[in-house]
Amino acid sequence: MSNYHIKHLEEYFQVYRKSVQNPEAFWEEVAEEHFFWRKRWDRVLEWDFTKPEIKWFEGAQLNITENCIDRHLRSRGNKTAILFEPNDPGEAAEHITYRQLHERVSKFANVLKEKGIKKGDRVIIYLPMIPELAISVLACARIGAIHSVVFAGFSSTALATRINDCGAKMVITSDGSYRGNKTIDLKGIVDEALKQCPHVETVLVAKRTKEKISMKNGRDHWLQPLLDKAYADCVAEIMEAEDPLFILYTSGSTGRPKGMMHTTAGYMVYTAYTFKNVFQYREDDVYWCTADIGWITGHSYIVYGPLANGATTVMFEGAPSYPDFGRFWEIVQKHKINQFYTAPTAIRALAKESLDFVTKYDLSSLKVLGTVGEPINEEAWHWYNDHVGDKKCPIVDTWWQTETGGILISPIPYSTPTKPTYATLPVPGVQPALMDENGKEIKGNQADGRLCIKFPWPSIARTIWGDHQRYKDTYFSAFEGMYFTGDGALRDEVGYYRITGRVDDVIIVSGHNLGTAPIEDAINEHPAVAESAIVGFPHDVKGNALYGYVILKETGESRDRDNLKKEINQMITEHIGPIAKLDKIQFVPGLPKTRSGKIMRRILRKIASKDTSNLGDTSTLLNPEVVEQIMKESL
Ligand code: PRX
Repeated sequence: MSNYHIKHLEEYFQVYRKSVQNPEAFWEEVAEEHFFWRKRWDRVLEWDFTKPEIKWFEGAQLNITENCIDRHLRSRGNKTAILFEPNDPGEAAEHITYRQLHERVSKFANVLKEKGIKKGDRVIIYLPMIPELAISVLACARIGAIHSVVFAGFSSTALATRINDCGAKMVITSDGSYRGNKTIDLKGIVDEALKQCPHVETVLVAKRTKEKISMKNGRDHWLQPLLDKAYADCVAEIMEAEDPLFILYTSGSTGRPKGMMHTTAGYMVYTAYTFKNVFQYREDDVYWCTADIGWITGHSYIVYGPLANGATTVMFEGAPSYPDFGRFWEIVQKHKINQFYTAPTAIRALAKESLDFVTKYDLSSLKVLGTVGEPINEEAWHWYNDHVGDKKCPIVDTWWQTETGGILISPIPYSTPTKPTYATLPVPGVQPALMDENGKEIKGNQADGRLCIKFPWPSIARTIWGDHQRYKDTYFSAFEGMYFTGDGALRDEVGYYRITGRVDDVIIVSGHNLGTAPIEDAINEHPAVAESAIVGFPHDVKGNALYGYVILKETGESRDRDNLKKEINQMITEHIGPIAKLDKIQFVPGLPKTRSGKIMRRILRKIASKDTSNLGDTSTLLNPEVVEQIMKESL
């Protein structure tokens, strides 16, 4: 029996037992057998959740790109590492072999060095889903620079906040991006952001759309001529196990995004291990995750996890609806995809369209289907199972977070019997706990509580960049000695977990985490707005949509309401990005508040969801009369 590759349910239980009885021995065996180390570790694990401090494989030295690229060169040099499928189906797909990837990453790494980037420097990557995105991520890792990818749908303000928060010296971007039939001026967004970022010395610009853009002398450089001149070999920087690999920003319950910092060895071991097991990847399979590398799913399960296993991983630049709603299935047929991993929001959107878009294509190559990012509802699950998987592909409903680095709860396909809407069982090494309101663990099956994890797993984020106290307060203070996920969950009679959703001020819209605070901050910048509160309400495609309650200043009262609504959404687009726009905006005379001045979001959520039969006790409110009025005028 190998700990590394689980092939049936009995084996899962055996491996799981071993992994919790002696986690260090378990992870040591995985690390020893499947990776290339420059120096072995002195200690497998050191941890203290009260500080909190977590160190895996201390003393070990490695470079993650040697594990993702170099060590495959001999046996898989001509195998496709990255299969790039462009936005436009008329443009040819590009197969990048492991050997070519080695050369392209090496050249890129040498360009970074030439431009003064050294180990520990932060580099912001703001690129569409083109090969340069994965290559620049790996090039940073090659020389020990800390990459921070910012999703290319974020606005210039959001980009500037992230650049400044991590103190990046360099930004890597492109002239523009394609998505569906739209062209987006990415470089223009970067130029706007950089007005607020005096520390950025260099901007490297990849050519994609060939639109005319402006280049600032001395700061901005076209990437290709630099790559053409660069040497095609670059010795990998030797990294300590706990050296930072990347920072990835996620929303929180205050305005400032949290720069989750992940380190090298544990992240590599865990993403590789989970990729192999959760997707049951076999040597000649073609694996496709539709996420963007701007999110953690893309980091762990497009780039690092698959490449660490020598897999063929697909990168798709486009959208599921362009040129029509059959695009995903056309790609599955074209590249004979074996594992397909997407988000429930995409499944719901496609399920609304004609079935002909699916049945037109041959999907018989599929073996495993995955979902991630939000709870999948039963209807979407069945549609996916019946029409995409033809009832023969297990669905892995994978639960995890930016903070966890890798998948923590998921079925192992062909081992764990699946159950619609349940993420089922913890991955080996993961010890979940459900906590009650008094902070006590609820033991036994059939429980409902707040989801915590009791013991560290190798890819847990180690800190929030520049703010360790916030890391401690957010994740390790709600329940003593535990990592708190921010999610609620149920456990059924056999111990399967079902994630019920966020229990904090984060709302998941179309699979994107959005904090209420940054959106409210953006709205409040509008000169006519006095105060605002955002809540989520159920939406049949997006999962949740946003409902904003807005109090106008006296000066705003006379303004045209429809124009105001447009301007408010424009503010949000400028500060965060179009993903955070509100579906409904209601102007209100006041917001229900407790006597200590806290907005009672519970009540606002119920009104937005049209679930007002039981609003609970409102008598303790400072202004109970406002509830009645908000209800009367609700949208
Ligand atoms: O609420 C959970 C939800 O997404 C949150 C994490 O979001 P993010 O950090 O953006 O990472 C998303 C991709 C890993 C979680 O706290 N979530 C994620 N996966 C699932 C899920 N909710 C239910 N079921 C899932 N499979």
